[in-house]
Amino acid sequence: MKTYRIASIPGDGIGIEVVAAGLCVLEALVERDGGFRLDVETFDWGSERYKRTGALMPEDGADQLRDFDAIFFGAVGAPDVPDHLTLWGLRLAICQPLDQYANVRPTRILPGIESPLRGVGPGDLDWVIVRENSEGEYAGQGGRSHRGLPGEVATEVSIFTRTGVERIMRHAFTLAQSRPRKLLTVVTKSNAQRYGMVMWDEIAREVSADFPDVTWDKMLVDAMTVRMTLNPSSLDTIVATNLHADILSDLAAALAGSIGIAPTANLNPERRTPSMFEPIHGSAFDITGKGIANPVATFWSASMLLQHIGEPDAARRLMDAIETVTANPDLHTPDLGGTATTDRVTEAVIAAIRGRN
Ligand code: NAI
Ligand code: MG
Repeated sequence: MKTYRIASIPGDGIGIEVVAAGLCVLEALVERDGGFRLDVETFDWGSERYKRTGALMPEDGADQLRDFDAIFFGAVGAPDVPDHLTLWGLRLAICQPLDQYANVRPTRILPGIESPLRGVGPGDLDWVIVRENSEGEYAGQGGRSHRGLPGEVATEVSIFTRTGVERIMRHAFTLAQSRPRKLLTVVTKSNAQRYGMVMWDEIAREVSADFPDVTWDKMLVDAMTVRMTLNPSSLDTIVATNLHADILSDLAAALAGSIGIAPTANLNPERRTPSMFEPIHGSAFDITGKGIANPVATFWSASMLLQHIGEPDAARRLMDAIETVTANPDLHTPDLGGTATTDRVTEAVIAAIRGRN
């Protein structure tokens, strides 16, 4: 029987709660399917390890993950550790060396969930945001000099390479081509940023020549927030830089009902390294330990993981189970205006997987 090796990194805060729920759901799917197994190894990397040892993960952490088929990640961040240390010490320390350059973020309004946008229902908002995940504004270039002095300077340099932009553009066009509407919107800020963003636009045009059946247009990122809010059905696949897509995808999640339902995949599309699947939300200290974190984002991420490793039937079954559960407002967690707990939602999804509700 096919066995996949999965690295589980729950991390911090509600990451630990939702990954535990996600693993229970995956176990139920394996039982139900009977055609494959998951060999899950859990890594206790995160802020507690940092406080104990001075590092969020071992020096060779990314290498320890190379032989896995996929990585299942929770969230990282603690109230008493600076966010730039936790992000760079764990999440980016995995994404960057493993070259997970395509961050894919589907957003749609699931059954039973209400968008904060008036008159916008399930069919009206169905997007996939493709975020460049290896360079741009988060390339890690920059520094600080003369710390604390009046003349202190800090630089934060964006890096755009032809290779980096071309490969994300190709990924976005390919994804757009695979979706029924074959529609791509390329987001930049090429009026104010004259070099990297203008190159981004030029490369989009070059790559588009290989995808004659994809309709594409360009948007400036500020105007894009307006279009997402006022005309969501005019969009389908969206590609943007690391920073721009980071922001737009939080907006997308909110417009689709809650950040607690939004999933993401950090892909190495060539499959030279394992890809990583995680909810887009963070460790949410404000609700940690209360048992009310919405596990749906993590379940949806688990479905993307199954699709990626080659178990589309199980992926579909999980998505169907999620939608059966979200359709029932009694099974909504507080972020969706309900009173259900993480456990209650998890049990309901498992029941739906087993086929009895
Ligand atoms: P956050 O996503 O943790 O929380 C924002 C708001 O959304 C909070 O009110 C939270 O309660 C709510 N929320 C988030 N996920 C939810 C869920 N599953 N169910 C119900 N409500 C949910 O973002 P915030 O507060 O800016 O960051 C908290 C920590 O997480 C920081 O240390 C930050 O650096 C880290 N972070 C980590 C990320 C990652 O590991 N990928 C992503 C974003 C933030
Ligand atoms: Mg973000």
